[in-house]
Amino acid sequence: MMEFTRISGIGTKVSRIGLGSQPIGYHSKEAGRQTIDRALEHGINLIDTSPVYGNGRAEEIIGETLKKYGREEIVISSKTGLEKTRETTVRNSSPEFMLKDIEGSLRRLRTDYIDIYQIHWPDPLQSMEETARTMRSFQEEGKIRAIGISNFDLRQMEDFSETLKPNTCQCPYNIFESKVESDILPYCQDNEIVFLAYRSLCQGLLTGKMKADADFTDHPVKRADPKFQLPRYRQYLEAVSGIDSFSKEMHSRGILDLAIQWILGHDNTIALWGAWKPEHIESADSVFGWNPDKETLYRMTQIIKEIIKDPVGPEFLEPSTR
Ligand SMILES: NC(=O)c1ccc[n+]([C@@H]2O[C@H](COP(=O)([O-])OP(=O)(O)OC[C@H]3O[C@@H](n4cnc5c(N)ncnc54)[C@H](OP(=O)(O)O)[C@@H]3O)[C@@H](O)[C@H]2O)c1
Repeated sequence: MMEFTRISGIGTKVSRIGLGSQPIGYHSKEAGRQTIDRALEHGINLIDTSPVYGNGRAEEIIGETLKKYGREEIVISSKTGLEKTRETTVRNSSPEFMLKDIEGSLRRLRTDYIDIYQIHWPDPLQSMEETARTMRSFQEEGKIRAIGISNFDLRQMEDFSETLKPNTCQCPYNIFESKVESDILPYCQDNEIVFLAYRSLCQGLLTGKMKADADFTDHPVKRADPKFQLPRYRQYLEAVSGIDSFSKEMHSRGILDLAIQWILGHDNTIALWGAWKPEHIESADSVFGWNPDKETLYRMTQIIKEIIKDPVGPEFLEPSTR
């Protein structure tokens, strides 16, 4: 059964698995609508999005789908601070851009408020104080409820917090990409900031379903991700297969259940699960009901160390400055 948590500023309980809508931005409307319906059936009430996912398309599909549900039943988290130019995507947290951006999101989402509004990536050309003040003005106007930051390092989080305390923090976090454990995650836990893990399934690797001969040429994220390039990709697949086998043997649970529970085993965390078709999230409420023990986590770490000789993080995702 789905588990829930609380986020300061939001009246309803929030599911500990959130539907990540980035892939919905790049697939058919019908598949997107059905995926949202299925997520809600499984007890997920948090949907994470951004105006840059499919250039507004993900927000539009969410907005159209939500018409049939009560607005208070759904927790929408969206973002600002990334601007699509003709050639690329750049960081922009200027007050002018943020104002234009939030108006666009509210229109596409067909709502007058966003539950969690996040700075997608910090903008080094903008003062953190001014960015935080712009967020506060949105909150005072009732356009947003909880304040979120994303992809900030520790110093940037502290800097932002001097003006405005964030309620959530979103960063990449999965069993292959765990850098946040050294500083960001403890900071969130000490400061009652709910941590939203993105890439929870490492783009599908941690489902155990990816094939060695897959072609990523047309995939908007995987084609740029060095994990999915040979020969490194083979090492990751081998580690996945090793972890999947021993987890099934010890707990009758595959790697997907382990990957999500590994995130949720930390206090104050939510796992964002990217999906664009209903089948993707079919097991969303059955990953609960067990906890991987210390021995399981130790064996998992050993397998990763032994097999992945050439590990690489999610740094390729970093957008450029203006
Ligand atoms: N703040 C940020 O900068 C940031 C960055 C990235 C993502 N996010 C958010 O976090 C969410 C989650 O991250 P993510 O979408 O990058 O990664 P993810 O959840 O690790 O992986 C999503 C991908 O995994 C595959 N997948 C999911 N369930 C599956 C299943 N049951 N069986 C087989 N394959 C499955 C699909 O791949 P295919 O597409 O190949 O079918 C899907 O697109 C995003 O959707 C977005 O909302 C935020």
